[in-house]
Amino acid sequence: MKAFWFRIRQWLHFYSRAVTKYQLHSPFVFDLANAVLEDDRWYYAFRDVEAVRNQMLTSDAQLEVVDYGAGHSGSRTGKVTVRKVARDAASSRRQGQMLFRLADWARPRKVLELGGSLGIGTMYLAAAVRSARVVSLEGCPDYAKVARINLDLLDLKNVSVLIGEFDHTLPKALETLQKPGLVFIDGNHRPEPTLQYFEACLASAGPDTVFVFDDIYWSPGMLQAWKKIQEHPRVTLTVDMFDLSLAFINPDLREKQHFSVVPVSWKPWKVW
Ligand SMILES: C[S@@+](CC[C@H](N)C(=O)[O-])C[C@H]1O[C@@H](n2cnc3c(N)ncnc32)[C@H](O)[C@@H]1O
Repeated sequence: MKAFWFRIRQWLHFYSRAVTKYQLHSPFVFDLANAVLEDDRWYYAFRDVEAVRNQMLTSDAQLEVVDYGAGHSGSRTGKVTVRKVARDAASSRRQGQMLFRLADWARPRKVLELGGSLGIGTMYLAAAVRSARVVSLEGCPDYAKVARINLDLLDLKNVSVLIGEFDHTLPKALETLQKPGLVFIDGNHRPEPTLQYFEACLASAGPDTVFVFDDIYWSPGMLQAWKKIQEHPRVTLTVDMFDLSLAFINPDLREKQHFSVVPVSWKPWKVW
C-alpha cells in the first residue's frame, strides 16, 4: 500500500512538471517526443505481440520461479502460473508500443535487454528492428523458455536469450555486443544493482547508445538511482516519459538537460 501511494505521489509530481512537445526547445527531444509519444501509426507487430500476451493471460501452465531481483512475481522461489507473470511482470501494451517506436526511431544495430521475463518487451524491440541483433538476459530458466517459444511464434530469429544471473550473463553479453545502440534495463529493481548494470553497460557504450529504464518510480531507492544516473558525468540528456525513462550519452548534446515529457493529449491546453 505504501508503494502504491509512493507511485501516485510521484506520478502527480511528474505530471506537474511535465511538458508537451510544444514546450521543448531541443529539436532532438522534439523529434524523439514526436516519434515515441505522438506517433499513432499502428503496426501488425502490435497485434501479434498482444495476441501472444492474451494467450499467456489465459494460461495456467506452471513455471518454476527463480527470481534474482526485486521481483513482481511476489515470491522468489516456488511455482507461478504463466498468467500471473504475464499479468504482473510484463511490460504493458503502452510501454511495449513505446519501446517499439523508440527502437524504430533510434534504429539500433544491437539491442541489449536486462530482464526479458516472458519476452513481451523483447518481442516489441525485436519486431521494430528485425535487422538488429537482440540479446535478452533472463535469470529464470522457465520464463526464458516461454520467451523463446513466443519469439519463435513471431518468427523473431534476431534474438538470443541468455539464461542466468546478470552478474554472469551481462559481462558475456557485453563482450559479444560491443557498443549496443539500445540498452533496456528492466530487471532487479534495486538501486545498487541498477547503477552497477548501468556502469557496466556504459563501459561498452558508444555515443549513440540510448539507455532505457523501466520502473524508476518503483521505490524511493530507484528514484535516487535515477537521480544519480541524471548526474552522471557521461550522461548528457535525460528524457523521462514516466512509463519509460531515457538517458543519452552523446557528447554532441552539449548542454546537460533533463526533460519530463507527456503526450499533448495529456495536457491539451499546453498547445501554443
Ligand atoms: C519486470 S521483469 C521484465 C519484463 C520484460 N522486460 C518485459 O518487457 O515484459 C524483470 C525480469 O528480470 C529478471 N531478473 C531480475 N533480476 C535479475 C538478475 N539479477 N539476474 C537475472 N535476471 C533477473 C526477473 O526474473 C524478471 O523476469
